[in-house]
Amino acid sequence: MRCSSLSLFAAPFSNISMMASSKHFNAGAVFRCSTDIDGYEELNVIGTGAYGTVYKARDRKNANQIVALKKVRVALTEDGIPMNTLREIALLKQLGTFQHPNIVKLLDVCHGQRLEREKQLVLFLVFEHLEQDLSGYIDSLPSSGMPARTLQKLAGELLTGVDFLHSHRIIHRDLKPPNCLVSSTGQLKLADFGLAKTYDFEMKLTSVVVTLWYRAPEILLSQPYNSAVDIWSSGCIIAEMFSRQALFPGQSEKDQLDKIFSLTGRPLPAQWPSTVSYSIDSFPNRSPRQPNYLCHQLCELSNDLLSKMLAFDPRKRKSADALLQHPYFKQEPL
Ligand SMILES: Nc1ncnc2c1ncn2[C@@H]1O[C@H](COP(=O)(O)OP(=O)(O)O)[C@@H](O)[C@H]1O
Ligand SMILES: [Mg+2]
Repeated sequence: MRCSSLSLFAAPFSNISMMASSKHFNAGAVFRCSTDIDGYEELNVIGTGAYGTVYKARDRKNANQIVALKKVRVALTEDGIPMNTLREIALLKQLGTFQHPNIVKLLDVCHGQRLEREKQLVLFLVFEHLEQDLSGYIDSLPSSGMPARTLQKLAGELLTGVDFLHSHRIIHRDLKPPNCLVSSTGQLKLADFGLAKTYDFEMKLTSVVVTLWYRAPEILLSQPYNSAVDIWSSGCIIAEMFSRQALFPGQSEKDQLDKIFSLTGRPLPAQWPSTVSYSIDSFPNRSPRQPNYLCHQLCELSNDLLSKMLAFDPRKRKSADALLQHPYFKQEPL
């Protein structure tokens, strides 16, 4: 892989976080490529998502350590990389310094080609490599499903990672099994967050369908949202760990909402935002149910835990921090 000789970058990464939050952040002069992409030997593609391609690679300059290289394209303006993108990358690097056990570690950021005609720059984000994602992990489970103790541990790690992001004012917005990685020792780590603005640009260039199954109702209804959207998605993921099936496998936005209402009940007219294009009457009237109505594998405590995560009203969902104190996490699994 070739690394073009860009002179956009002039300051070491350690300075970025400070400058990214400064009012005088200068996008064109504060970002240095800390390693040459030529030092990585690409082995195979491990993921092609909506926003980029992920390769398994060998870090030749670091004892042939296996890494995951995520190739993304960012828009270039006349000043170079847009400030938002620089800020996001700086934040990701800064988060890496916490070495949180449930967050995938960003090891480095390198730049590749500058595509003059497309006014884009190729960036390689270098992450620690994990064995598989949660989607593959769930698919490879035996018919007896996930052992109760493993489930309790993974659900706790998921919420611990979410709590860490939220305490750093980051909303993931796209939590789903393919964005949760599982290490060879069975540890869950969150991936694919923090580059929302960079990605938005890429998303316009791709026709990959983004899954709706884990999306909170307020996002589907184009309402303002906050960190509670990640609690909703985490609830869907935990239910899927129990049943090995998506909780709300909607086929369209409207079908997704209808599937959600089969659990939460159809909202009252007063809860229905006036800006939504379809009327509330176009959905069948449904009464609220408990999560075990849809996910029969739930035990009493996990059913109660999920009922605190899957509320239609985001204000009624508990925070990740509060959920980690739930008795489900204290019980001795059967
Ligand atoms: N660090 C990693 N280790 C192992 N596999 C990874 C890693 N990062 C991503 N992947 C795999 O690549 C897929 C796409 O990566 P992701 O960062 O989610 O990109 P996208 O933005 O395209 O969804 C993931 O679903 C996962 O299967
Ligand atoms: Mg992803």
